[in-house]
Amino acid sequence: MPATDTSVIHWSPNLSVGVAAIDGDHRALIDLLNALTAAVAGPAGHGAVTLKLDELIARTEAHFRSEEEIMAREHYSEAGHHARVHEALLDEIRQFRSDHLAGTDIGPEITAFLKRWLISHIIESDKHLGGYLEGRGVG
Ligand SMILES: [Fe+2]
Ligand SMILES: [Fe+2]
Repeated sequence: MPATDTSVIHWSPNLSVGVAAIDGDHRALIDLLNALTAAVAGPAGHGAVTLKLDELIARTEAHFRSEEEIMAREHYSEAGHHARVHEALLDEIRQFRSDHLAGTDIGPEITAFLKRWLISHIIESDKHLGGYLEGRGVG
């Protein structure tokens, strides 16, 4: 793997969890992640990377809140564990942000980490939730 992962990721139907609102959020997060990747790799500068990180954190917080509300409303038994995984990811992104603000070059790690995390969370956890919701007629 190159030191800085500048490749773009694309949403594809195999990432669908079967619930339109959740898929829409995931597509938006992928777009923001690609924008962050471009800012980290390009000549945009420190402030532009901070802005992209802030956008990504805000959108991720909103998405996680909305999934957690759905899980609570639909009595999903894995809700507690799923929410803890969300919190751990947010802690990681906030740490990247602090490191970035402290002047550390986060480029080599953050894009690869977030892509790996987002895709694996969708495939392992959100698809499981999506299957449960589909079974309850939520789509
Ligand atoms: Fe999730
Ligand atoms: Fe999600």
